[in-house]
Amino acid sequence: MPNNYFITTPIYYVNDIPHIGHAYTSIATDFIARFKRMSGVNTFFLTGTDEHGQKIQKAATKSSIEPIALCDNNSIKFRELANLLNLSNNDFIRTTEQRHIEGAKSLWSKLLNNNDIYLDNYKGWYSVSDETFYNEKDLIKQSDGTFKTFTGSPVEWIEEESYFFRLSKYSDQLLKLYNDNPNFILPKSRRNEVISFVKSGLKDLSVSRNTFDWGIKVPDDEKHVMYVWLDALSSYPNSLGYILDKDSDLSSYWSNATHIVGKDILRHHAVYWPAFLMSANLELPKKIFAHGWWTNEGNKISKSLGNAIDPIEIIAKYGLDQIRYFLLREITFGSDGDFSLSALKSRINADLSNDLGNLCQRSLTMIVKYCDSTVPGHENINDVDKKFLSKISNDLDELSILIDNQEINIYIRKIWDIISDANKYFNDYKPWELKDSNRLAFNNVLYVTADIIKQIGVMIYPIMPNTSEKILDFFDIEIDHISFELLNTNIAKVKIDHIKPLFPRVE
Ligand code: MSP
Repeated sequence: MPNNYFITTPIYYVNDIPHIGHAYTSIATDFIARFKRMSGVNTFFLTGTDEHGQKIQKAATKSSIEPIALCDNNSIKFRELANLLNLSNNDFIRTTEQRHIEGAKSLWSKLLNNNDIYLDNYKGWYSVSDETFYNEKDLIKQSDGTFKTFTGSPVEWIEEESYFFRLSKYSDQLLKLYNDNPNFILPKSRRNEVISFVKSGLKDLSVSRNTFDWGIKVPDDEKHVMYVWLDALSSYPNSLGYILDKDSDLSSYWSNATHIVGKDILRHHAVYWPAFLMSANLELPKKIFAHGWWTNEGNKISKSLGNAIDPIEIIAKYGLDQIRYFLLREITFGSDGDFSLSALKSRINADLSNDLGNLCQRSLTMIVKYCDSTVPGHENINDVDKKFLSKISNDLDELSILIDNQEINIYIRKIWDIISDANKYFNDYKPWELKDSNRLAFNNVLYVTADIIKQIGVMIYPIMPNTSEKILDFFDIEIDHISFELLNTNIAKVKIDHIKPLFPRVE
């Protein structure tokens, strides 16, 4: 089996501009992609935009422009955000691209050929904002008698002719899938929710709409457009060309696919999507990971409250790596969390400026000042120091398991434990007291500290790629081919010529 790994963000709706929630999903996915590449795994990372459906059509009508013009304008904003966030994605797919449209139609034909699609009438609730059909029992009744969804979105009653997918037929197969693959849906709490949902009884799913036309036309019935989720989900394998050609150059990535999604869209990924693939006789993804939602200073982020956090603005103010660090470190990946400026500032000042920044600044400037800018040799290194320096290499397997379980914030905590050990090491040995009295010991402390800083520079690459590059650059190490091998690069006698502060403190 090739050492391939495919990881995706959801593809983002282009009815509006990106906000911090989109940035979060993307940064977390980028973290995992970068970590996998460092581990020597061939990684293909996909992101993109979801451009069809009623929600987009409505937004275009509201702005008095053609839907495709709205898509073009806003898709670019998501592409620019990907650059701004320093995402290492290999592809950016748009559902209005021909390669996608053909793949989506081919998926439809496979479901039809398997006799899983039939024509009927849909009568029920629909949320345009979620692009989701809801059973009344799953909605929340409000005091004025209207209903809203668990995501807080309004619903409308619709009645229209529609093609249906025989989802109910797949209940047992889905339950078997979850049972045989306990890690198919993570975290566990979310897995249980999905299992209860399937056990409560699946109804067949409406998979076409015919009261608007902004979508992919149903093959052989142009009055209908495909349900936007069936269209959108197929973008993942369409990026690889897999639905049209199982033997395409990139198709082998599909056998090891992980989807990172927000908790609101887990049902589409963990129930509808595997059922479509089962019906089409295509391989299933290996893992669906649902992360939590951010609130802003304690409040739900919503258009109506006007409290969306603009990632461009916040990055301009506090710095990209600072925001990447904060989003990944602040909450357990999988749980909800609150974005507050005071928490952000305290993370920047305490974890970045003090713990990491000062460690580099004060130890490496000593090398510049007292060692002719050259990292001392390691002739005097003792067993205790050796053990300290081999800690990260020894823990690599454990760290990889954390990433396979999507425990990103625990990975970061472990790296910061090492930073704190390094600060303690430096403080305990007080090199400033040794520099005249015991040159051998002085050199040794500086060597050990510099080497551990280099290793930290390697390990923070998935979190803060730019800072990783800066730290490794102190030691003249280039990160074009970053891998864990760099942990062992010998830095004794390397010339350090420029130490710039990494993280200015913020007020
Ligand atoms: N277009 C669909 C996905 C189709 S995938 C085949 C979609 N798009 S979205 O733009 O609405 O949302 C994309 C992602 O952003 C989702 O994973 C969603 O959970 C995430 N977030 C939106 N708001 C969020 C927060 N407030 N916090 C964290 N993530 C949030 O859904």
